[in-house]
Amino acid sequence: MNTTTLTTLFIGQSILKLKDVESTNDYLYNLLTNVKPLVDGTVILAENQFGGKGQHGSAWITEPGKNLTFSLFLNTLFLKANQQFYLNMAISLGVVDFISHYIKKGVSIKWPNDLYVNDKKIGGILIENILSGNYLKNSIIGIGINVNQLEFDNSTKNPTSLAIETGLQFNLDQLLNELLSNIEANYLFLKSLKFENLKIQYLEHLLGYNIERKFLKAGVEIKGTITDVTQEGFLEINNTDGVAEKYDIKQIAFII
Ligand code: BTN
Repeated sequence: MNTTTLTTLFIGQSILKLKDVESTNDYLYNLLTNVKPLVDGTVILAENQFGGKGQHGSAWITEPGKNLTFSLFLNTLFLKANQQFYLNMAISLGVVDFISHYIKKGVSIKWPNDLYVNDKKIGGILIENILSGNYLKNSIIGIGINVNQLEFDNSTKNPTSLAIETGLQFNLDQLLNELLSNIEANYLFLKSLKFENLKIQYLEHLLGYNIERKFLKAGVEIKGTITDVTQEGFLEINNTDGVAEKYDIKQIAFII
């Protein structure tokens, strides 16, 4: 494995850069099951990911060599299984900090962990957890950020990239270092177990928090206001009668 001159403490200090891979998440999972033990903070980066996975069985398709496409391995035994969404919060906040460095307005997290600039998607996160009893054991954090890509096919709804938003082209190695530093800072905060504080920050950046908006519930348009996200990751929406209802990802969709 190569090492680079990253400025992080541990995230990405062990890094493997691949030219072509089906999915960095699957590659990391196979490493984990066949090459034990893996170093905490190991990163697998791909120039071209030809079978990238998105959330809920969707595909993550991006142009080779233009974007940040990687997976991060973390030892997450300090988290109980029912606290796992705090990990999503910490990682999402790390990515928001990174994007906000270049885009000053309109950066948000669309629940559960899509990265948006106004009403356009700039990145996504796919977290796959391995449990041990009531605790998390390992987490594979897959991250895709659209960086230098200017044109997208129809597979992504409302896509954007750092280049589209800023009119600039970026050095991917430098961005990776910055992104991993932002993720590490937020992950170390998570490790200090200040969960409530983390949630306050997550809600501050959450698209639609405390604002009435439209959603699709079982295919029917409803109005409601996001009031909370539980530690298990359920979205709490107050309907127009003031009744709070909790939804998982299959039960509710944003109308954007
Ligand atoms: C989503 O928004 O649906 C999540 C997208 C996650 C994409 C990343 S790219 C690196 C890693 N490997 C994968 O196969 N998927 C994630």
